[in-house]
Amino acid sequence: MSERKACVTGGAGFIGAFLSRRLWSEGWHVTVLDCCGQEDLGLIADLLGHPRFRFLRGDATVRHDVEDAASEADVIFHLASVVGVGTTIGDPIRTIRNNIDSMFHVLEVARRRNSKVVFSSSADVYGILDKVPLEEEDDNLYAGPHVRRWVYARVKSLEEQLCFEYWRRYNLPTVVVRYFNSYGYGMDYYFPRRVIPLFVRNILEGRPLEVVGDGSQTRSFCYIDDMVHGTMLAGEVPEAVGEVFNIGNDEEITILGLARKMLAIAEELGMAQGLGWRHVTTGAVYGEEFEDIHRRVPGLAKSRRVLGYQPRVPLDEGLRRTLRAYRDHGVPQAVGVAG
Ligand SMILES: NC(=O)c1ccc[n+]([C@@H]2O[C@H](COP(=O)([O-])OP(=O)(O)OC[C@H]3O[C@@H](n4cnc5c(N)ncnc54)[C@H](O)[C@@H]3O)[C@@H](O)[C@H]2O)c1
Repeated sequence: MSERKACVTGGAGFIGAFLSRRLWSEGWHVTVLDCCGQEDLGLIADLLGHPRFRFLRGDATVRHDVEDAASEADVIFHLASVVGVGTTIGDPIRTIRNNIDSMFHVLEVARRRNSKVVFSSSADVYGILDKVPLEEEDDNLYAGPHVRRWVYARVKSLEEQLCFEYWRRYNLPTVVVRYFNSYGYGMDYYFPRRVIPLFVRNILEGRPLEVVGDGSQTRSFCYIDDMVHGTMLAGEVPEAVGEVFNIGNDEEITILGLARKMLAIAEELGMAQGLGWRHVTTGAVYGEEFEDIHRRVPGLAKSRRVLGYQPRVPLDEGLRRTLRAYRDHGVPQAVGVAG
């Protein structure tokens, strides 16, 4: 078993909690830094008290908290972020300050012992680029700073650049992973911001699914276990250093197709009967400033080649696992509530 030490910022959030559990179960010493309370640990609450697990309630924008959590880490997985386009449009200043300040602290603390940093960026950095699939070397395309829709993309992109600059200037080993839509049990349940959690909630509350627009826009959804697997590989594969990788699943589906599929699985699991769907405007769900992207599919050639990454859970199977978990375990304790 490995004796390696990891710090996961944002480790109480959706991806962070699954990542922390996986690291811990593979023998790592894991410190979670998150600004949420111990009562919000949700899916990893049972790890509290274990000698290889430490939870630090703290703020990644505070240097001392990052030092406390990460100064011994071999790898810092930096996931703490204001998350989701809708949330970031609501408070661009908080988004910029939270993400940029925390990114600097993580990089500076990592420099002390040359810890590796794996930074969680987003597919949103590609902006409205009309290309399928999106490859890591593609340009970013979005409007200027007067359009708040793109603050999340802009800030993630700047954080990516900081990672690259620390690698170039200080030889600090940094890796950027660009996540494409993940999903799984517990994601965003209390404050649903993303489509699968919104549909899950509609199903559990017995309401028709709310499909934005005509539902012909497509996405590619990646089950949480595959996201975590890709993130672990980014932290482990030596050739990954100084590089950026798309992490996701390239199986593409329209949002209307997703609604139909989730309804069919929910019916098969006895969770819903004849709910159907209704069409709503983008503004009604995400606010008037939101600009939807028509297609977004990750190009995975580089991740496959360099990391050996391969998503293993098909959408049908991942949705079945997710809905079955809600049916069998009910709604989890809050996950990622403070993001
Ligand atoms: N889930 C996805 O599909 C997806 C897609 C693209 C990018 N990402 C990125 O992956 C990361 C994890 O996403 P998630 O879906 O798990 O989000 P999440 O909101 O569930 O988790 C984020 C966590 O970060 C914590 N946090 C935020 N600011 C903090 C701070 N200053 N100090 C300490 N903790 C702080 C929050 O409390 C929360 O627990 C984020 O960086 C997000 O931008 C996720």
